[in-house]
Amino acid sequence: MWKGRFAQETSALVQRYGESVSFDWRLYAHDIAGSIAHSKGLVKAGILTADEQQQIETGLLAIRQEIEAGNFEFKESLEDVHMNIESELTKRIGPAGAKLHTARSRNDQVATDVRLYCRAEIDRIRSLVSAMQAALVECAERGGETVMPGYTHLQRGQPVLFAHHLLAYVEMLNRDSDRLADCRKRLNVMPLGSGALAGSTIILDREFVAQHLGFDSVTQNSMDAVSDRDFVAELLFSISMLGVHLSRLSEDVILWASAEFGFVTLSDAHTTGSSLMPQKKNPDVAELTRGKSARLIGNLMSILTLIKGLPMTYNRDLQEDKEPLFDSIDTISLALEVFTEMITGMDVNAAKTTAAASDPMLLATDLADYLVNHGVPFRQAHEVIGKLVAYSIEQQRAFGEMSLEEFQRFSPAFAADVTACLNLETAMTARKGIGAPSPQNVKSQLARWRKALTTE
Ligand code: ARG
Repeated sequence: MWKGRFAQETSALVQRYGESVSFDWRLYAHDIAGSIAHSKGLVKAGILTADEQQQIETGLLAIRQEIEAGNFEFKESLEDVHMNIESELTKRIGPAGAKLHTARSRNDQVATDVRLYCRAEIDRIRSLVSAMQAALVECAERGGETVMPGYTHLQRGQPVLFAHHLLAYVEMLNRDSDRLADCRKRLNVMPLGSGALAGSTIILDREFVAQHLGFDSVTQNSMDAVSDRDFVAELLFSISMLGVHLSRLSEDVILWASAEFGFVTLSDAHTTGSSLMPQKKNPDVAELTRGKSARLIGNLMSILTLIKGLPMTYNRDLQEDKEPLFDSIDTISLALEVFTEMITGMDVNAAKTTAAASDPMLLATDLADYLVNHGVPFRQAHEVIGKLVAYSIEQQRAFGEMSLEEFQRFSPAFAADVTACLNLETAMTARKGIGAPSPQNVKSQLARWRKALTTE
């Protein structure tokens, strides 16, 4: 659009290669907000009259409305969203429009737009995370005091409450949300006014402009400001971590929904059939989410690799930051929404989980603790119970079916009250230390989360 020193038109192929408007058009609202704030700065600096600023603002708002109504034509020949909007504005309002780009470069402009975009998306994603946490809490509450085995190495370890297992994910999601909030804090700094790389001889009140855009402060080094994409990498890491957590939950749900476990039932609306096997009910939502986490990690790798070899300051490579960013934001948003729905429709199969948790072997640790309470050092107690486990397997008789005399063959510390610790309910109630899954603890954790999630 601006020919300047160029005698030749850009080759059509180069235009196609270099255009970004086909994807960066989605920055339009932030680009317009940035331009309006900049125009106010230009008035304060005496570059624009109040009337010119008014023409710019009205023109830009009209353009925004047209974009939102789907009546605006973005042109590939104008390369990116910034030039499309500015050139249309100038076409409409003339000289005032041509003054808008004073003391500004697309380098500080795009850095500003992307930060504004990330800020808004972080707020949106965090509310989706809260909704998902609320769905997990609600599903946990529906499960009541249902017990299930807790696993390490995918081997049955100790009994837990189903709710305790789900609340583990509520904790993970909370860290994800905090990470996003932290990332937001660091990116809420305005690069506008850094120009191409060295600011401008026309001095703008950057803090005044920043205030208009809701930034907490302004960047302090123009070279860093135009080339910094740390915030994109941080955001993509935070999103990847969130995706990895969803992927872990996916894996649990996939196992639970299998005939081998049968721990949960997913609603028909969130499963799919097989084109060949009529009996199938597949947990596709969970599988897709596990799969999509790979994309999120890939996008993070793209941005880190993109940045690593760049000399100061802005390089056109940086245009490649947008597609991975947009893709991760779209992917995680949909994953959170669909997962929230799926969890809302998921029911625990208490009969199955309780049967699995009633495996007496799950209380072997409780028996060792019993001996410890009767004065046996833990290492020794562990050894004694190990032998008792082997005996139980060999005899094909559960702990509960053994006589006191048999117990005492392994340790004289056993007394008649040993049967009490073989009761699942007693065993659960006994796990009452902070963070452990006693029904009382789980109840107060559920209450804590319900309160935290409704007062947000
Ligand atoms: N579309 C470009 C980007 O996203 C805008 C900045 C272009 N700056 C430049 N000097 N060519 O990075």
